[in-house]
Amino acid sequence: MNVLAIQTSPNQDGLTAETAKRALAGAAAAGHETELVELNRIGIEKCRACDRGWGPCRTEGTCIIRDDFAGVIDKILAADALVFAMPVYWWDISESAKTFLDRMRRVETGHGFKRYTEKLCLGIACAGGSGNGAARALYLLEEYLKRMGFKIHDLVPVTQRNRTYKLPMLEQAGRALFD
Ligand SMILES: Cc1cc2nc3c(=O)[nH]c(=O)nc-3n(C[C@H](O)[C@H](O)[C@H](O)COP(=O)(O)O)c2cc1C
Repeated sequence: MNVLAIQTSPNQDGLTAETAKRALAGAAAAGHETELVELNRIGIEKCRACDRGWGPCRTEGTCIIRDDFAGVIDKILAADALVFAMPVYWWDISESAKTFLDRMRRVETGHGFKRYTEKLCLGIACAGGSGNGAARALYLLEEYLKRMGFKIHDLVPVTQRNRTYKLPMLEQAGRALFD
């Protein structure tokens, strides 16, 4: 099986990146192929809400913007499971994560929200010491994932306080993806 992780923090050595890597390490230990995409290291523009808001994506299933978005979608389509790890900013999904999810959801309308129905997703929200907003960010992520048809493997809040036991747990989650 193929497992793709998308991490949306600008910090390549931070907590969010670490959670994605731990989940992939677990998947690799179970014999799966893994790949990590750093969303802030590639070019993903925001949705232009073209065509008076609805956009040709609604019928064509593709975005008119020529950037790195389509390549990431191709990777998700080729994967059997997606790990989506994001930092919590202002009690919310991070800007780069939301920019990507907004375009992904729009494009999926052109495919009847059917392309991901056999794919698993492990969603991870990484917060600071307070942990404020981690549950809310996951609640919002769940709406995107459910709307797009993913099967949710787990939704995991990780904070600086609980990381010592959540990071090993995420390795187990990656290992157990297809059990
Ligand atoms: C702009 C900004 C807003 C933040 N807002 C929150 C917040 O609402 N709640 C929280 O617990 N942590 C918040 N944090 C802390 C991050 O969620 C925390 O550092 C997290 O571990 C992401 O770090 P990473 O880039 O190392 O993955 C915020 C950080 C930044 C930069």
